[in-house]
Amino acid sequence: MRVEARGVTVAYGDEVIFREEDLLVEGSGLYVIIGPNGAGKTTLFKVLLGLIRPVKGRVFLNGQDVTGRPEVAGKLVGYVPQLTSLDFPFPVSVEELVESAVALRRRPIRLFFPREERWRVEKVMEEMGIKDIADKPLGSLSGGQRQRALIARALVWDPQVLFMDEPVASVDPRGKAEIAERIKELSRDRMVLVSSHDPSLFLDSAKEVIVVNRGIVAKGRPADVMRAELLREVYGGGVSLVERCVHLVDSHIG
Ligand SMILES: Nc1ncnc2c1ncn2[C@@H]1O[C@H](COP(=O)(O)OP(=O)(O)O)[C@@H](O)[C@H]1O
Ligand SMILES: [Mg+2]
Repeated sequence: MRVEARGVTVAYGDEVIFREEDLLVEGSGLYVIIGPNGAGKTTLFKVLLGLIRPVKGRVFLNGQDVTGRPEVAGKLVGYVPQLTSLDFPFPVSVEELVESAVALRRRPIRLFFPREERWRVEKVMEEMGIKDIADKPLGSLSGGQRQRALIARALVWDPQVLFMDEPVASVDPRGKAEIAERIKELSRDRMVLVSSHDPSLFLDSAKEVIVVNRGIVAKGRPADVMRAELLREVYGGGVSLVERCVHLVDSHIG
């Protein structure tokens, strides 16, 4: 498992988000991505997934060039996109969401579900504890249930690499802790990149922390990266370190 960006420059029109950045993430484990709103965390995921083509530079997954090629990257990486409150206005059920991940990859397209695919859908719903809400429309779910459904969807093909963009945002505190535990388990034999404004939920199991702020500002072991000076530089005043607990108060409206 190897995720690599080489000399990547990313811009939206005239607004440059990353300038000739390099990033190398190698091996299984949990990698926590932090940075204030608008820092470029979501942009980074999308570039690594081939969904955004960089102005300059290349992206490689396991040595394969996936720059601007989401159809290739999507075969290697499971992606949990960041939720916004406007998502899911359409009447799709939990089970249909999970099934859609199977159907999209199926080739040639068939009219019925082969047994093996049916089994995958059941298995991931079981693993994420959403079997009892399989028939519910996504619009009726709590934040935590939606995130579980999206994680199940990303797990259907048992990918060796998972990208999770703020998977515990808009989840109640108990749900946050439960989902974080599940994510840590998933990272035991996979590479999991997770962005979060609640890094303390993940730090005890994190292999590395990657700090993003219109660039890769820092990357390393949690103890080396989660230092007050560095975080203050990135977050301004909104950082308090209480013993080993880190509270990031992000007042910037992105
Ligand atoms: N599709 C887009 N078009 C123009 N600007 C964008 C687009 N997506 C994001 N941006 C801008 O790029 C910056 C980084 O955004 P994003 O990657 O979403 O940051 P984060 O996920 O860290 O909050 C922000 O200033 C945002 O407004
Ligand atoms: Mg984001």
